[in-house]
Amino acid sequence: MSSYKILEKNSTSALLNVEDYHQQAKEKLDKMIYDFYSTGSDDQLTLIDNQESFQRIKLRPKVLIDVSSHQRENSLNCQTQLLQSTATISFPCIIAPTALHRLAHREYGELATVRAAVACSTIMCVSTAASTCMELIAEEYQQQIKTNYPQSTSQLWFQLYVLKSRPCTKKLIQRAEKSGYKALVLTVDLCVVGNRECDVRNQFSLPNGIQAENMIDDETNDFAKDYNVPSEDEALSWKDLDWIQSITSLPLILKGIIHPDDVRKALKYSVQGIIVSNHGGRQLDTCLSTIDALPYIIDTIRTENQQIDVYVDGGIRRGTDILKALALGAKAVLIGRPILWGLAVDGEQGVKKVLDLLKKEFRLAMMLCGCQTIDDIRKNNLLIMNYTS
Ligand code: FNR
Repeated sequence: MSSYKILEKNSTSALLNVEDYHQQAKEKLDKMIYDFYSTGSDDQLTLIDNQESFQRIKLRPKVLIDVSSHQRENSLNCQTQLLQSTATISFPCIIAPTALHRLAHREYGELATVRAAVACSTIMCVSTAASTCMELIAEEYQQQIKTNYPQSTSQLWFQLYVLKSRPCTKKLIQRAEKSGYKALVLTVDLCVVGNRECDVRNQFSLPNGIQAENMIDDETNDFAKDYNVPSEDEALSWKDLDWIQSITSLPLILKGIIHPDDVRKALKYSVQGIIVSNHGGRQLDTCLSTIDALPYIIDTIRTENQQIDVYVDGGIRRGTDILKALALGAKAVLIGRPILWGLAVDGEQGVKKVLDLLKKEFRLAMMLCGCQTIDDIRKNNLLIMNYTS
């Protein structure tokens, strides 16, 4: 049950967890926008299962371990290195790419999100379908580092949808590299858009003044202004990875991998990372939940004797969820909707608060499980899978 209602309702200090932010955002947002953010495809079974699968995994903590270093060194023990130590984040949680942040926060949108990412020393993965153009987000990022957070280890990654127009796709990649994005996250689970019935019922359309700004120079379709016009290339296939890698020297991460066979293929293309994702339950309904898919992916990489970063997203709402993902072998998690709830409730401060809450919960979970370091999470054999009472 959400706890904020019985506390002082107008104060964000009464919002104690992600679900509190969710409920507050639901009250604030227009129904069409709330539904666009919150719902999934078909019967929304994957959307629900993403969260419920975490709840079926039980923790069995280890005790009588000195965890006082967490108090002394604050968040130092949660710092995480990614992409062969080319990135360091303050705790293993990244901002997932989600479209159109200005629907949640009309004035600043992605600019508010990036400020929070810098303040919290984490990575913001900017969507192709952002409502602020990628160069402006990169400028804001630089400005924040320079003026407010010189110690921040935050990074920007760019999430790529391969568009029907290859010249336009090429331009997107080149713009991202030129403006300082540090990795390219290629989304591979959206050859066509899933059946999102709520958006159909609500006749979802972009409010005046909000559009997918990165794509306005794509003359081959009207997606930037009309979100219902399909823009992604249905013909995208494995061989296109060669083409993408010929355009950029940025590390390539594939987002939307569920099947172990696809991991084997990805390894052949020397990608630097994989995000186990089902698009937050917005694409193929009844798809395996991501946390249930993760062990098979990790196993395959081990069997192939390879080492690449594996990330997971979908349904992560608590610090214990992050800990479970790491215990199963993920390097870090990504969070989508919780960021949108924070943004809708209180802009930059709301996103920062959501990240801070998750970090606090994660640290607490580490200590209660007897983990002194991130490595301990994997070594301590903490999980019982698919527990039924
Ligand atoms: C998304 N997601 C997404 N993914 C992507 O690669 N590009 C995008 O533009 C978007 N846009 C988007 C919009 C909205 C409203 C949502 C909810 C999701 C998927 C996103 O990156 C991520 O995979 C999920 O959101 C993770 O699940 P949770 O954390 O929302 O449960």
